[in-house]
Amino acid sequence: MNLLFVASECAPFVKTGGLADVVGALPKALAPLGVTARVMLPAYPALAEVAAAGEEVWHHADLQGGPARLIAAKAEEIDLLLLDAPHLYDRPGNIYLGSDGQDWPDNAQRFAALSYAAAEVAMGALENWQPDIVHAHDWQAGLVPAYLHQSDAPTPPCVLTIHNIAFQGLFDASLMTSLGLSSALYTSEGMEYFGRIGFLKAGVVFAGKITTVSPTYARELMQPEFGMGLEGLMRARQADLSGILNGIDLQAWNPEDDPALETPYSARRLKAKAANRGEVLRRFGLQPDLQGPLFCVISRLTTQKGLDMLLDALPALVGRGAGLAVLGSGDKALEAGYVAAAHAHPGAVGVIIGYDEPLSHLMQGGSDAILIPSRFEPCGLTQLYGLRYGTLPVVARTGGLADTVIDANEAARAAKCATGVQFAPVTTAALEQAIHRTCDLYAQPTEWAAMMRRAMRHPVGWDVSAAAYRDIYADLVTTDAAQG
Ligand code: ADP
Ligand code: GLC
Repeated sequence: MNLLFVASECAPFVKTGGLADVVGALPKALAPLGVTARVMLPAYPALAEVAAAGEEVWHHADLQGGPARLIAAKAEEIDLLLLDAPHLYDRPGNIYLGSDGQDWPDNAQRFAALSYAAAEVAMGALENWQPDIVHAHDWQAGLVPAYLHQSDAPTPPCVLTIHNIAFQGLFDASLMTSLGLSSALYTSEGMEYFGRIGFLKAGVVFAGKITTVSPTYARELMQPEFGMGLEGLMRARQADLSGILNGIDLQAWNPEDDPALETPYSARRLKAKAANRGEVLRRFGLQPDLQGPLFCVISRLTTQKGLDMLLDALPALVGRGAGLAVLGSGDKALEAGYVAAAHAHPGAVGVIIGYDEPLSHLMQGGSDAILIPSRFEPCGLTQLYGLRYGTLPVVARTGGLADTVIDANEAARAAKCATGVQFAPVTTAALEQAIHRTCDLYAQPTEWAAMMRRAMRHPVGWDVSAAAYRDIYADLVTTDAAQG
């Protein structure tokens, strides 16, 4: 079966969050199941070298204001189709934001162009290859099903995965025509969202199947607290909606063989983790003889991630003799809040503002626990890396966090199945309680080590979930053939 993935990010080439990790890892996990996926991405500057070594397979004289071509290339075991359109993608810095921190003003055109080119490929624009299914990711690819829907030509079925319903790609309704969208699609049952165009909504309406990245988030999406205005539509499409947990790339994230670590270690050689802990303490300017647990945060700094609550809970954390290392960037007020906290608690709180992939690996290798107090979390990957590295996740009970961490309550401890700490409701008070419980557990070294070993054996790979995606693809192809 041939698949076309369409997305705006893909690790290791270009990444701002977990979407990239998933788009980079899932095609590799599908290959042994007989699914061959090509990944279509914009040819951002970070991909210039890869594109230069590729081969042009399609071109378009005027795609949203300039010439565009598709380049087939292979890198890091991933088959890529790169949409080279310099007027849209050849710019420095963040792939979504200009240097002023605001969305690029032409994001509608940039990601409509990506979806348009993908729809062309889906309908047979390439000489030697056509997908049986298109798999679109998030709002940036949300228009693919809309372009396919409005075409008279035979089109392959489409799967849309929602990685985060908080980002919907909302744009001015006056753009319908210039984006090449039929005005017939602009209805409340179609892609209109409170007077604007909704790229993600278009995907949800017109895709054959919708998935999201955990079973709990699939349920949450149908509720007003989480659905961000699309909860009614999600309920209407419930029969076609499934929640499939993300996995992680077990090769890229392997404590036994991770070049970013000071010392490799395994569930059988846990003591070697200490050297990594020492290096994290050093890098973050924390006291080298820290007695309590070393917590870490590796995150976008946004309200989604609940890190404002953690700022308020810091006195409790520091009061227990614990330490905190924070790596992140995003919201300016949160960045400033964490920098101020590091000054207020020298030696106990260390902060590095920025994005640093190798450092994130070292922190997973050297911390005792990872804090993820998210208000909502479709899946979350850092708790999965934490499990794999024996860095026990302390998480809010929401979305994929609820589905992947087993709370160390009395029953789970008696049954010897706990792998971390969960808290609810998602409030500062409950987070403080979770920090206290974690410190209490850490003070019992035998039980803590048992939890570490259990966490490290918890399955976090792609096997089960890749098979679930394969089944969805197979279903769609069969239904499509039956409908003729
Ligand atoms: P989200 O996609 O909502 O940001 P996830 O937990 O799914 O959350 O994925 C975040 C990914 O980005 C993880 O791979 C995490 O390690 C990485 N990450 C987040 N912030 C940073 C940072 N400042 N430096 C390095 N990696 C980061
Ligand atoms: C989104 C979500 C995150 C999820 C990631 C990959 O960025 O916020 O929870 O893990 O997508 O699916």
